Amino acid sequence: MSINAFLFDLDGVIVDTAIYHYQAWKRLANELGFDISEEFNEGLKGVSRMDSLDLILAHGGLTLPDERKTELATQKNEWYLELVSRMTSNDILPGVPAFFAQVRQAGLKTALGSVSKNAPMILARIGMTDAFDAIIDGNKISKGKPDPEVFTKGAEELGLSAAECVVFEDAVAGVEAGKRAGMFVVGIGTPDVLTKADMVAPSLEALTVEEILKQASA
Ligand code: BG6
Ligand code: MG
Repeated sequence: MSINAFLFDLDGVIVDTAIYHYQAWKRLANELGFDISEEFNEGLKGVSRMDSLDLILAHGGLTLPDERKTELATQKNEWYLELVSRMTSNDILPGVPAFFAQVRQAGLKTALGSVSKNAPMILARIGMTDAFDAIIDGNKISKGKPDPEVFTKGAEELGLSAAECVVFEDAVAGVEAGKRAGMFVVGIGTPDVLTKADMVAPSLEALTVEEILKQASA
């Protein structure tokens, strides 16, 4: 089976919003009287808003009623929106435009696979909405990563099987989602963190489409 599509995570792969999610969650934790480290944050990457809040509250030893949790998640999202409101196409990560040009040149389809409900707004801000043949975001799925739903739906919307898709992910939960979907997964980060990825590179800038197609079909 040949590779016919590349499925991309958004936060930390296309654009560096991962840092803004972290800053907003850290601020929330601090207001609740505790802190979260960068290492703890690795476990939040790719995890949905409410699941992230549950992990943070458990970390701080807090149990709160659902109503209060909804308020806190809304507050975090407001802080996050403030942080991303000044983003432009200058915030696209290095190598992304050139990589997408190669992807198109190779005749591959593209999909976004993000659990963020803010993904369509971010894509619009950075001018990349049209770069995707299918967009699966947090508004279209019921289960966040590491559940494979976001990638399975991406393949479905493109009319392709899992074996025809390659996933690009910076999150431990996202790599697991891609593997559980039955796809070849390129980790964006470091191999010591993204241990389950089929191959790992520090960024899209460090990759060529040719090399990935070779590895994924090997
Ligand atoms: C993922 C991020 O892309 O989206 C997570 O990696 C975030 O950190 C999740 O929690 C949900 O995002 P949002 O924008 O719907 O709160
Ligand atoms: Mg990510």
